[in-house]
Amino acid sequence: MKKPVFISLTALFGILLLADCASHRSFSGNGPVHSLKAIFKDDFRIGTALNTTQIEEKDPAVDALIQEQFNTVTPENIMKAEIIHPEWSRYDFTQADRLVAYAKKHHMTVNAHTLIWHSQLPSFMHTMQNTDSVRQYLTSHIHTIASRYDGKVYSWDVVNEALNEDGTMRRSVFQQKLGDDFVVEAFRTAEKAAPHTKLYYNDYNIEEPAKRAGAIRLIRKIQAAGVRIDGVGIQGHWNISSVPFQKIEDSIEEFAALGIEVMFTELDLSVLPSPFKDNITADVNQKIEYNAAMNPYTNGLPDSVQQKLADCYGNLFRIFLKHKDKISRVTFWGAGDQQSWLNDWPVQGRTDYSLLFDRQLKPKPAFFSVINLKKTNL
Ligand code: G3I
Repeated sequence: MKKPVFISLTALFGILLLADCASHRSFSGNGPVHSLKAIFKDDFRIGTALNTTQIEEKDPAVDALIQEQFNTVTPENIMKAEIIHPEWSRYDFTQADRLVAYAKKHHMTVNAHTLIWHSQLPSFMHTMQNTDSVRQYLTSHIHTIASRYDGKVYSWDVVNEALNEDGTMRRSVFQQKLGDDFVVEAFRTAEKAAPHTKLYYNDYNIEEPAKRAGAIRLIRKIQAAGVRIDGVGIQGHWNISSVPFQKIEDSIEEFAALGIEVMFTELDLSVLPSPFKDNITADVNQKIEYNAAMNPYTNGLPDSVQQKLADCYGNLFRIFLKHKDKISRVTFWGAGDQQSWLNDWPVQGRTDYSLLFDRQLKPKPAFFSVINLKKTNL
């Protein structure tokens, strides 16, 4: 007769924990079982922002993570005007071409970012006073770049952040010299230059009712002019203390009702104190001086905050899944926490924890909270 085998509770817990860790490994080695892009493959594409180091594949750990988890990429900076169009009559496509080659090699789509934005403009645009020159810039910048990458990138953020918080038009150089219709002009030029590329409007806080109403007016105006706009990107830079869940859901419905794709294009959730009383979530021009009280988690994130982050991400993806018929893409603004722009905005040199992967690129509770929503289908 066989002897009964006794396993202590501690040993049993250990075995279960090991099994759990194995099934939650980021790098499965046996196919992307716990990969975001695989898990959400029937729902929406899953993207990340890429910086130069990543495009050049200089860090094998982050490269492996990106290839495992994401099927679409957005350049974090290298297609912005100051880099791709440094002088009036000189373009520099070196890094953008590299990005396109990277995406092709790894079977990813590219959301090109961005053609017309008031920020990160080339220095020659900082002093531009002449209306005709601004018009010429807008037309030739869009034509040159969008036609070069037509058929090579999937989509363009044609115009980025043209609105103020109250839904009025931001007083950018484009608005001041060309009037509010510069947005329609930009889309008209992009439509001609890039007939095979999806064309999007992208902005932050457009889930907020006043700004959302402004975005809807803008999109309707483009449509009324008979010009093509394929989608709208809600950037999704939020803080775990105030993720506007209901407004996000309302926005998905209202934007989708315009007959266009809805995307979350720059998703990250800051866990740090915000210095702003008003609802500024991504105005890159805002800079606040460092003080230690604004940087409370330099030695790691307390469990309660980690859990709050996980809950917020879980709730967000629950909404995304509920509306998956209207949402075509969810892009995180970076792969791991180390990469996040939030470590340096609006206060430089902080330690934020805004993404699904930590500084060692390990999946965080927030990652599991997101994938657990689909667990029954795994
Ligand atoms: O390239 C220079 C480098 O030469 C220099 O040594 C270094 C010193 O600070 O600066 C480098 O440029 C930085 C650039 O990122 C590339 O790393 C800029 O200072 C820095 O301001 C810039 O920040 C970017 C920010 O846009 C600027 O507009 C962030 O990486 C990028 O994540 C952020 O992305 C924007 C989206 O495009 C639009 N929506 C908001 C979002 C977050 O701000």
